[in-house]
Amino acid sequence: MSVKIPEYVAGHGLLKGKSVLITAAAGAGIGFAAAKRAVEEGCRSIVISDIHEGRLNDAVERLKSETGLEQVAGKVCNVAVEDDVQALIGFAEEFCGGVDVLINNAGLGTTKSLIDMEDAEWDKVIDVTLNGTMRMTRQMMRTMKGRGAGVIVNNASVLGWRAQKEQSHYAAAKAGVMALTRCAALEAADFGVRINAVSPSLAVHPMLKKSAPEELLAELEGREAFGRGAEVWEVANVMMFLASDYSSYLTGEIISCSSQRA
Ligand SMILES: NC(=O)c1ccc[n+]([C@@H]2O[C@H](COP(=O)([O-])OP(=O)(O)OC[C@H]3O[C@@H](n4cnc5c(N)ncnc54)[C@H](O)[C@@H]3O)[C@@H](O)[C@H]2O)c1
Repeated sequence: MSVKIPEYVAGHGLLKGKSVLITAAAGAGIGFAAAKRAVEEGCRSIVISDIHEGRLNDAVERLKSETGLEQVAGKVCNVAVEDDVQALIGFAEEFCGGVDVLINNAGLGTTKSLIDMEDAEWDKVIDVTLNGTMRMTRQMMRTMKGRGAGVIVNNASVLGWRAQKEQSHYAAAKAGVMALTRCAALEAADFGVRINAVSPSLAVHPMLKKSAPEELLAELEGREAFGRGAEVWEVANVMMFLASDYSSYLTGEIISCSSQRA
């Protein structure tokens, strides 16, 4: 038996008047859900980004039509490329007249035992998931420092805390995202910027269902006390809390979005 999914709650104005930038937001997962949620929470403008141009264009149109907000723009960015990151933040700063909230959603995983791991596979997962989050955070901190305000929300994973076979690269990257969040938050506090992370266990969406074996998903759902994975918007809700003034006294924290048994 699984605990039933609650009704989708309409926005509470948590991001009223804010501007938002989200990476990896053109998929079917947490990134797009966070973008939609940010608009529902009243943000005045939003830039969504992704490595995949076709999907990104569709996502921009979908976000506009599903929410009615016109101040929506898309910009292609591979977070593993420093020039892309600088161009994205420059574009978003201009489009929004200053970015108030950055959500670092981009992260990549594969399933591979360590003894079969090639350097290239290890490096790619680390470069997108950890280094990509670092590049975005570093550049955004430089910009937010000038204004003395801003919020950054990173997307980690419970695998940054817990062990799972064939996930050493992804788990190491997510543990790195957690450490980066804590350390960068201390530096950013000096100039009024908060940095926190959400740590989901399992958020099921169509792309994940297509790429992960059915038995693995069933096993992972079985580990959840609720007997189901999170809806992507349930993770997005935690991101909205971290992005909003409701978490004004939180920085350097990693908030688990999970019902995993200990
Ligand atoms: N879904 C889960 O169960 C789960 C659990 C824990 C953590 N997470 C983390 O949540 C984040 C979002 O994952 P999701 O599964 O919800 O999918 P998502 O739809 O939010 O993200 C996938 C998108 O990332 C884009 N992307 C891939 N490489 C990129 C790159 N180098 N630069 C920019 N964009 C890139 C893809 O094109 C795709 O559109 C990831 O960081 C993931 O590690 C997910």
